[in-house]
Amino acid sequence: MAVSGGIAAYKSAELVRLLRKQGATVRVVMTHSAMQFVSPLTFQALSGHPVHTELLDTDQENAMGHISLARWADALLIAPATANTLAKCSHGLADDLLSTLYLAASCPVYVAPAMNQAMWHKPVTQENIQKLLSHGVTVIGPAQGDQACGETGFGRMSEPVDICRYLMNQPVVQCLSGLKVLISAGPTREPLDPVRYITNRSSGKMGYALANAALKAGAKVTLVSGPVTLSAPVNADLISVETAEQMHAAVMSKVAEHDIYIGAAAVADYSPASIENQKIKKQSEQITLTLVKTKDILADVAGLDNHRPFTVGFAAETHDLEHYALDKLRRKNLDMIAANWVGQVSLNPPFTKGGMQLDKVSDTPRRTSEKGGFDSDQNALQVYWNTGSKNLAMTDKNQLAELLISLIAERREQKTHEKNTA
Ligand code: C5P
Repeated sequence: MAVSGGIAAYKSAELVRLLRKQGATVRVVMTHSAMQFVSPLTFQALSGHPVHTELLDTDQENAMGHISLARWADALLIAPATANTLAKCSHGLADDLLSTLYLAASCPVYVAPAMNQAMWHKPVTQENIQKLLSHGVTVIGPAQGDQACGETGFGRMSEPVDICRYLMNQPVVQCLSGLKVLISAGPTREPLDPVRYITNRSSGKMGYALANAALKAGAKVTLVSGPVTLSAPVNADLISVETAEQMHAAVMSKVAEHDIYIGAAAVADYSPASIENQKIKKQSEQITLTLVKTKDILADVAGLDNHRPFTVGFAAETHDLEHYALDKLRRKNLDMIAANWVGQVSLNPPFTKGGMQLDKVSDTPRRTSEKGGFDSDQNALQVYWNTGSKNLAMTDKNQLAELLISLIAERREQKTHEKNTA
């Protein structure tokens, strides 16, 4: 974040806090006039990093000068962007750290203008804005309202919460750019008769969050979904199904067109051997249902000889998480498996039930008193692949999905690299 010298600089301090809360690492550059409004110490405390202020400072040039800062950043936000800073950037002047950083940056650049309304409307400012837009810069705001100078109109810097929300919706790091991802999500419904079915507690939240994260990472996404109450991401191709059989057919008909398959659906393992045409009547004290095994979609995808995508499965377990996850990884020939606890949460490890140890104390995720897994907004995952594993700690499913998507992109790239160099 680059802060230039306007009264709105005080709002940028709050913006740093909000961006960090969203998981961003923020480094701050200030112009000399910005320092007249807010002390660098404020930004240092909020960002957790020293603030950069000088272009020609031997110490800072050695550590993180304008070129290293430009290379380091995934995005450059100039907030507030004064009329002077906008003019300098649009004309390619480079006489201080901020303007030089702008010239050196090849990442996406966002500017949040802040100035008196007359200065904003001045034709030369508007020309500069048009020039920056034509150079690919994104302009956020300004907003309308009361100004520090006592006037009213356009020119206030947009509110930090709005700027933060805008940035967080930008595909800043497009780790799946150009790739096609097929995701299965939600539960399946296996009918018994015209009114009853067997299903499970899956809400589809994890699969839908993965679809959103993959889109954000630049992928084209096809989402094969069982019945859920969520709205599908607008930019995904949605195929709605009910039964495991339908999900199998939909996935198998689409998989060859995709580079990655993520099986996040809670597919029924068994479905009724026959579906009654009429409602089963309540008569005897007991009835017996005959269930037959469904086709394993994940194993069928991973077993493809041609056009096999990078295949990622899920393992929801109530016990022996690591053992079952690794068994599935190998048995189903997967590239990765994301494992999580489901069911009742338990006491402190070692986990015991009726005197029986359920899992050894290890670095695998432990069931804690925090709610996670099925039908929850939070989850934690232990991800395994043939040569390693990674723990993704309990967090909001959207954030977890982004972490998992970048791990999938990393592992897939590694696999492609190994194949090419073998
Ligand atoms: O073997 P298990 O059902 O526990 O493995 C879970 C993983 O397998 C999940 O990724 C799930 O989507 C997938 N699966 C499947 N087809 C089935 C059953 C499970 O694709 N019939």
